[in-house]
Amino acid sequence: MSWDGPPAPYRIETERLVIRCYEPRDAPLLKDAIDSSLDHLRPWMPWVEHEPQTLEEKTELLRGFRSAFDAGENFIHGIFRSDESELVGGTGLHPRIEEGGLEIGYWVRASAARQGFVTESTAALTRVGFEVCAADRIEIRIEPGNEASFGVPRKLGFVEEATLRRRLPGRAGGPLRDVTIFTMFREDFDPSIAPGIRAFDARGEQIL
Ligand SMILES: CC(C)(COP(=O)(O)OP(=O)(O)OC[C@H]1O[C@@H](n2cnc3c(N)ncnc32)[C@H](O)[C@@H]1OP(=O)(O)O)[C@@H](O)C(=O)NCCC(=O)NCCS
Repeated sequence: MSWDGPPAPYRIETERLVIRCYEPRDAPLLKDAIDSSLDHLRPWMPWVEHEPQTLEEKTELLRGFRSAFDAGENFIHGIFRSDESELVGGTGLHPRIEEGGLEIGYWVRASAARQGFVTESTAALTRVGFEVCAADRIEIRIEPGNEASFGVPRKLGFVEEATLRRRLPGRAGGPLRDVTIFTMFREDFDPSIAPGIRAFDARGEQIL
């Protein structure tokens, strides 16, 4: 499923972060963030079962992310510190849900947890989802029990809609997982959740 609306910004700047599309040369930063966070990520991110990956595998992965981003199919962003010296985590605007909606996913490295980074990045992506991509709604989908993750949409004013049983792909060989869906609709969005952010398109032109 690709996105029919305007594409996501290539780069977003917030108070403490740069949220931008990956480049293959980010592979060492991505590898460092994940390798140092395996125990923290494993309970909730099914892709961790394929970790740790080599630098070559990470480079290939990022080439794929970048190519999907350029094609407007899936907007996967890295979350970097403002000077881009460290990858703080990963996020993205994913058109994989029903029409008009973009889903935000996220993770943060263990050493950067509980410092408000994902609240800051998710607020920024929510704003660009509505103001740049013209989404009608933004969703965040979380496995019940992931209390840390529930805190993010709650803090930003998303509405908890429902918990659907056995709806997410399972972990290797495991059963399908339940999912709780949080939604924010365009008419309920308050831009003051992400004040002062700047966003740039593929040419580097400021669009927000
Ligand atoms: C879930 C996750 C992304 C949160 O990122 P974060 O940057 O640490 O979150 P924030 O600091 O912005 O926290 C926002 C709120 O969430 C809640 N929260 C975050 N971490 C928490 C924890 N360890 N325990 C309980 N509540 C927590 C709090 O309400 C917090 O607000 P507060 O600090 O003002 O009390 C992070 O814990 C993570 O990467 N977990 C592993 C991967 C994952 O679960 N990804 C999400 C899949 S849906």
